Amino acid sequence: MSARARAAILISGRGSNMAALIEAARAPDFPAEVALVLSNKADAGGLALARQAGVATEIVESRLYPVREAFEAAIQARLDSHRIDLVCLAGFMRILSAPFAERWRGRMLNIHPSLLPALRGLHTHERALATGLKEHGCTVHFVTPELDAGPIVAQARVPVLPDDDANTLAARVLVEEHKLYPKALAEVAAALVGARAVPEAR
Ligand code: GRF
Repeated sequence: MSARARAAILISGRGSNMAALIEAARAPDFPAEVALVLSNKADAGGLALARQAGVATEIVESRLYPVREAFEAAIQARLDSHRIDLVCLAGFMRILSAPFAERWRGRMLNIHPSLLPALRGLHTHERALATGLKEHGCTVHFVTPELDAGPIVAQARVPVLPDDDANTLAARVLVEEHKLYPKALAEVAAALVGARAVPEAR
């Protein structure tokens, strides 16, 4: 059997999607292992969860890098040293440059709390309510230079209920995020591992 893809998860905060990915990847037949959790904030809650789960962690503090290229070079160095194949953005609150997105094209995923292409950007739950949407949800997509616009891998839908506020709606979407992201990562990692297996088999 081919080796599993080595995934890094990039976070900035509480890391609930990260935790869902780590949990899913504990299954021996999951096609990716979580080899690294990297945060751009030293106080991100997800770092403690990752350490408890026995996953390697790195901190590259964005506030110490006024120049984005230097920040991304520091991230890339950590990804290289952990021999990362696939990157999962999970609440990572920094916009990545076009060269970085190109370098990881087809190997970097993001989860976004809306049914893209609707509601790119921030505050999606508030905007879903303000627009009067009847349906909302989340999307896992490949990262490309244009924000929240890369090819869609998977989506999950939830109803918007009459008495929702942004918190109740966000909580309903988050339950789906935690199921969707592991499924999407499994699909992408299986394809990557399969693609890699062909030359090895020759
Ligand atoms: C999630 O809603 C995700 O869709 C968005 O940021 C939030 C991160 O939450 N990109 P968590 O850190 O995974 O709990």
